[in-house]
Amino acid sequence: MTRISVNVDGIAYQDDVEPRLLLVHYLRDRLGKTGTPIGCDTTNCGACTVLLDGRSVKSCSVLAVQADQCEITTIEGVSSDGTWHPVQRAFHEEHALQCGYCTPGMIMASIDLLKDDPDPSEEAVRDGLEGNLCRCTGYCNIVRAVRRAAQEMRVTAP
Ligand code: FES
Ligand code: FES
Repeated sequence: MTRISVNVDGIAYQDDVEPRLLLVHYLRDRLGKTGTPIGCDTTNCGACTVLLDGRSVKSCSVLAVQADQCEITTIEGVSSDGTWHPVQRAFHEEHALQCGYCTPGMIMASIDLLKDDPDPSEEAVRDGLEGNLCRCTGYCNIVRAVRRAAQEMRVTAP
């Protein structure tokens, strides 16, 4: 067992974990963060995407011990005081989900994408989200949602 200290969605945790434990299993099984789904066992789908020190990672491709001393944000930590993040709101308004299984990962990856490119073209959104698969929507509404969120975030940026 290895002792890790992490901050997840604003709360500090210390836990003893097996070195082989994947971050996604730590989040879901130890911390009850089941908002982060597992969609594959090949690190392809992106459903498990979280922010690790602000950058998006597939949490099934990271060991919990690699997250030691890191700050992790899951889909459960992106709203603030009951107010949705602009990306969450845009996904809702643009009907960018159907079954919703890919949505947590899509939103986390989109938040990271918008940090680097606050005004992404349609092509840039498609490139930025290529590691996240959706079996339902055909992606058009997802792209629209990300660009809508970008516009809102530019308008409200200080
Ligand atoms: Fe599919 Fe992590 S669960 S990439
Ligand atoms: Fe069903 Fe994306 S909404 S997989």
